[in-house]
Amino acid sequence: MNNTLRAHDAETARHCARVAERAIQLGRAMGFDEHDLVILGSAAYLHDIGKIAIPPHILNKPGWLNAEEWAVMQTHSVQGEIIILAQGDIPFADEIAQIVRHHHEQWDGGGYPDGISEEQIPLLSRVLMVVDSYDAIVSSRPYQEAMRQSAALAILTAASASRFDPDILHVFQTMRHVTTAVDHGSSPPQIGNQVIVNWA
Ligand SMILES: [Fe+2]
Repeated sequence: MNNTLRAHDAETARHCARVAERAIQLGRAMGFDEHDLVILGSAAYLHDIGKIAIPPHILNKPGWLNAEEWAVMQTHSVQGEIIILAQGDIPFADEIAQIVRHHHEQWDGGGYPDGISEEQIPLLSRVLMVVDSYDAIVSSRPYQEAMRQSAALAILTAASASRFDPDILHVFQTMRHVTTAVDHGSSPPQIGNQVIVNWA
């Protein structure tokens, strides 16, 4: 499955690996137990797997997406849930799929696919939203130049009231060491000796 994503969109695959690494670091700082770290790391690594269902001309389009293309792009979180549940061999698939479904919800209810808000959003999805947004800001994207890490944190802070769980964002902001770039290609990070997901 990861190989499929890598073939479809190499940058998305690398983004998923970086987000998984940072999500685990943030989860540790929040005191999560081993089980939650495994669920969080796996969901973070798989969070954009639904993009394999997005046509490449939309996924890799230079410049901004129009409204119709954006609606297609937004289906990737539900597509990810469906793909994970359909695999049949991913441990804790139900928990992971739920986190992936909700990784674009927003604190104020303005996200998708369900428009849920605050504590209605699964906790691990709220963690994932912070590190996912951070990586999207600091990384080079087709439509956006890479941004300095300090500027990225400032953007996250400015958006915190509407988009992010303020308590989670506060923990992330205190973890300046997390802002050091991590790049292990598109391989998943490990928790101790345990690979968070193992399908490659
Ligand atoms: Fe996403």
